[in-house]
Amino acid sequence: MSINNKKVVVVGGSSGIGYATAAMAKKNGADVVIASRPGQRLESAAKALGIKAVAADVTSDEAVENLFRETGPVDHVVVTAAVLRTGPIKTLAIADAKATMESKFWGAWRVARFSTINAGGSLTIVSGFLSVRPRAGSAIVGAANGALESLVKALAIELAPVRVNAVSPGMIDTPIRAAMAEDARRALLKQLADALPVKRVGLADDIALPIIGFMENGFATGSVLFLDGGGSIA
Ligand SMILES: NC(=O)c1ccc[n+]([C@@H]2O[C@H](COP(=O)([O-])OP(=O)(O)OC[C@H]3O[C@@H](n4cnc5c(N)ncnc54)[C@H](OP(=O)(O)O)[C@@H]3O)[C@@H](O)[C@H]2O)c1
Repeated sequence: MSINNKKVVVVGGSSGIGYATAAMAKKNGADVVIASRPGQRLESAAKALGIKAVAADVTSDEAVENLFRETGPVDHVVVTAAVLRTGPIKTLAIADAKATMESKFWGAWRVARFSTINAGGSLTIVSGFLSVRPRAGSAIVGAANGALESLVKALAIELAPVRVNAVSPGMIDTPIRAAMAEDARRALLKQLADALPVKRVGLADDIALPIIGFMENGFATGSVLFLDGGGSIA
């Protein structure tokens, strides 16, 4: 099933995996809309891609409802939006743990709640490797990812014939780590790359590719694809 002329909304499309997905969908002929929080980042991304942007903060019920009121029914929706606050359970403020869930889990829930997806279309949620390869200090993110991976299976039943899937990336080099000092970021990515069978970390396009695949593959629903350069077996 080609996505040529299909309407695609990428929530989190201003950066990283979402941006790469929007660019790839556009290249494949789709009519693409990106959404993220209001601001310059969203506007610059839309300009660079030559597509429409709608400002929508996924932590707001009203904003997500407005987004899909504005787009109307669509064929494919992708959710990559998230800002994660992490730390050890004994020191991470409860408010920060809740903010992570609010953004990553409830954000995706709101998108599923308020979007209208045409029959045979798809919803793809990006989760992440911490659901199956937990790390000390990131329990809240692993929990959010695990919840999303369960959610897509339930929604694949409930929203059928709309198809619902998740892509769970390993370590991907995106602006998500922009707050780190550049030297430390490079050192971390090199260390992680050396430990992987593929000897590199992922690129945003590595994850955009299977997201487009989930849109195009009419047999895919209730699936969680772990794509991690072999991280889960290393
Ligand atoms: N990169 C990795 O190594 C990795 C690994 C595993 C899982 N993941 C997951 O993959 C997803 C995408 O990550 P990425 O690496 O592409 O990150 P990124 O480059 O930081 O992109 C995150 C996107 O989310 C948007 N966003 C953040 N908060 C939002 C909100 N409240 N409402 C609407 N949009 C919001 C941002 O746009 P604005 O700033 O314009 O709002 C941006 O477009 C995330 O869920 C992340 O947890 C990433």
